Amino acid sequence: MIWKTKVSLEEIPLAQNQVFRLEIEELESLEATIDELFLELEETGDESLLEDLCPYFGCVWPSARALTQYLGMQDIEKDGAVRIIEVGCGLGVPSLLLANTLRFSKIVATDFHPEVPKFLKRNIERNRISKERFEYRELNWRDPPPDIGKFGVVIGSDILYEKSHPSDVADALVRLVKPSGRIIIADPMRPYLQLFVDEMKARGYSAKPLVFQVPNPPAPLKETLVFNFEKMT
Ligand SMILES: C[S@@+](CC[C@H](N)C(=O)[O-])C[C@H]1O[C@@H](n2cnc3c(N)ncnc32)[C@H](O)[C@@H]1O
Repeated sequence: MIWKTKVSLEEIPLAQNQVFRLEIEELESLEATIDELFLELEETGDESLLEDLCPYFGCVWPSARALTQYLGMQDIEKDGAVRIIEVGCGLGVPSLLLANTLRFSKIVATDFHPEVPKFLKRNIERNRISKERFEYRELNWRDPPPDIGKFGVVIGSDILYEKSHPSDVADALVRLVKPSGRIIIADPMRPYLQLFVDEMKARGYSAKPLVFQVPNPPAPLKETLVFNFEKMT
């Protein structure tokens, strides 16, 4: 299948009036790519693969902008080097910001879609992002690799859009985070969000959300919540 793409400019406000500017190669049209993939899978008789191969990775979702903006307001390394992982990264804009700003640490961006590393590689080169502070690993949150270890900060945006996600994602996040670590999740108030917050609470984590209004072209600004989950004491 030929992935039809376009290059869009992302401008994300950070602290102290700074702006993170990126040229991002993304799908020309998510809907058209889904239709094309469905037709291709129908021809090969593999329609059951549509859910896993669905190219939701292929655009920058408003939640990625909110998470990037939130990370731009934080000093993630205030206590020194920290292991950081992004789950379901898609085009990985929050990870690209961290790769550019981390001083001692590395961001490990992860997803399960086979096209993600190819887009990340091209966008890293296009924007001259530091490869020294960036690593990609394939990770299916239904079954994280046992050797991946624990992280001080686990991040993710717009990863709660199917019925199975609240419990699968909560399990994976809690498995990946260190006992003293934090889990930062951005979500555009999707229907399964409250279920996820309940799943996190059942695992001993709570958070008060911050509200962000982020671009969602061509639609108006999108209200997006960012949660910083920590272990309840
Ligand atoms: C709506 S997109 C969000 C992408 C990106 N985080 C953003 O906000 O722009 C959801 C992402 O989750 C990934 N994903 C879905 N199911 C997954 C799973 N089981 N394991 C890992 N990633 C998954 C998809 O491939 C996609 O990149």
